[in-house]
Amino acid sequence: MDTQQLKQAIMEEKKRKGVLILAHTYQDPDILEIADIVGDSYALSKAAQNVPQNKVLMCGVRFMAETVKILSPEKEVLLSHADAGCPMAEQLDPAEVRRYRETHPDHAVCAYVNTTAQLKALADVCVTSSSAVEIVARVPQEDILFIPDKNLGAYVQAMLPQKRIHLMDGCCPVHNAITPQMIEQARRAHPGAKVAIHPECPYEAVRLADVAGSTKEILDFIHGSGDAVIIATERGVYDALVRQYPNRALYQLEPELLTCHDMKKTTLQGVYDALTGKGGQTIELDGQLLSAARGSIENMLRYGGR
Ligand code: 13P
Ligand code: SF4
Repeated sequence: MDTQQLKQAIMEEKKRKGVLILAHTYQDPDILEIADIVGDSYALSKAAQNVPQNKVLMCGVRFMAETVKILSPEKEVLLSHADAGCPMAEQLDPAEVRRYRETHPDHAVCAYVNTTAQLKALADVCVTSSSAVEIVARVPQEDILFIPDKNLGAYVQAMLPQKRIHLMDGCCPVHNAITPQMIEQARRAHPGAKVAIHPECPYEAVRLADVAGSTKEILDFIHGSGDAVIIATERGVYDALVRQYPNRALYQLEPELLTCHDMKKTTLQGVYDALTGKGGQTIELDGQLLSAARGSIENMLRYGGR
């Protein structure tokens, strides 16, 4: 089947089987086209809670499918490509966090939503990239272990000097590749352009940007302004925006470095195979693990998180 035939076949199959297709913004534009809902990981899992379909297919990485399952345990959740993991989410050993909790009983543990279910289950509260500062500010403890992203943790520390943020050695290898020199060079190449950056990038680069925010916040900034913008996050954001605004001055910073190869493992053929029972993987989580992980997400909502 060619691309158009595959898209047509996917649309028919998902309708016939009553499957909702979710896609993270970092997916290829072809995947975004066949999705029912596009967004960041937390927005997708929230949206899946309120749909009539009992089957959900996630085009993204494993922790995203797990988060959907944690929030909608009664649904059948499929990950479209079984090998699509997130190196950051899977980087930390839960035993290390367990040891930290034992030796620092008065510290709170905050987990970025980009973590495995095991790590979420060990945390007191989850945060997203758009809610991290707000949630950490509201956690009563002054000492906070922030996992797994040392860069987002450093950003939170810079925004909240009243807190003591403790970090472990984890990060997103894609965003972590960005340096302050790359930002300075891009500004020289595109004078007057604003820089929008994801806080998963190192703080030395983030502090040079005009806007720091999650995928959604970067998109909102670009939708809401007519400025020329240098985009310093995974290139899927840029790829989607140039289709929408072919005449805007938008520039992708370091397109090769800012490509998440795990996110790009999803293909139309893979989606079709998952829908027809020849591929993908059903997410199974042990009941105890699921309810402990859910507790840290519910605490995020309690603290007012988005
Ligand atoms: P958000 O889309 O939640 O900002 O996260 C970025 C990311 O790296 C997703 O894997
Ligand atoms: Fe993980 Fe980074 Fe890829 Fe997001 S961009 S899925 S955090 S490796």
